[in-house]
Amino acid sequence: MSTSTRPHDDYVVRVIRADDWPRVKQLRLDALRDPIAHLAFLETYEEAASRSDAFWQDRAAGSGEGSTGARQFIAETPDGTWIGSVTVLIEEAGTKDWAGLPVERRQGHVVGVFVRPEHRGHGLIKALFDAGVAWARERGAERVRLLVHEDNDRAQGAYRKAGFVPSGVAVPFVTDAAQNELEFVLEWPS
Ligand SMILES: CC(C)(COP(=O)(O)OP(=O)(O)OC[C@H]1O[C@@H](n2cnc3c(N)ncnc32)[C@H](O)[C@@H]1OP(=O)(O)O)[C@@H](O)C(=O)NCCC(=O)NCCS
Repeated sequence: MSTSTRPHDDYVVRVIRADDWPRVKQLRLDALRDPIAHLAFLETYEEAASRSDAFWQDRAAGSGEGSTGARQFIAETPDGTWIGSVTVLIEEAGTKDWAGLPVERRQGHVVGVFVRPEHRGHGLIKALFDAGVAWARERGAERVRLLVHEDNDRAQGAYRKAGFVPSGVAVPFVTDAAQNELEFVLEWPS
């Protein structure tokens, strides 16, 4: 697969490169300042801001071009601004997931979903998903899943539009077990 596509005239979706790490860090910090970051992400701005350069360098290398276990896709405007991102992790059949449950099939797990507020509502998230899902399929994934907070209605709406449906699985939210995250899955005919 090509690492970039042009789904719309004013941005390109591409895989990050290892030397993009300062921008990986900046986009993540910006995402963690979003008003609903406490529902959307499992770390705080302060935690992320305190991480070393080596952390961000490892993260970018581990999800950049050439990596096989994870890929971060970003949407970039002609002036070089990153306006959105998704990261897809490959989960192998026979392993256990973050909740200790068995992974029965090779699958993609989407994390770090973010579109800058001024670019929301124009289909950018669908373009990012298309790139991430295509890569997961190339890697032999049989489905793609993600977790979304039960109160994050806008994200759930975006996921449904992208073809994801609730699987019925709910897991306690990391910072408050009285709340749940819902698993949404995208499957395709084998
Ligand atoms: C989640 C996110 C990437 C979605 O991108 P987006 O451009 O906002 O998504 P879209 O506008 O294409 O789709 C959202 C849908 O939900 C609908 N929606 C918006 N607010 C809603 C609400 N409060 N309740 C129900 N539906 C809502 C929208 O109307 C839209 O559907 P429509 O196009 O049929 O009208 C973006 O909102 C974002 O970055 N949010 C902050 C971070 C986040 O929540 N990440 C996800 C973590 S799991």
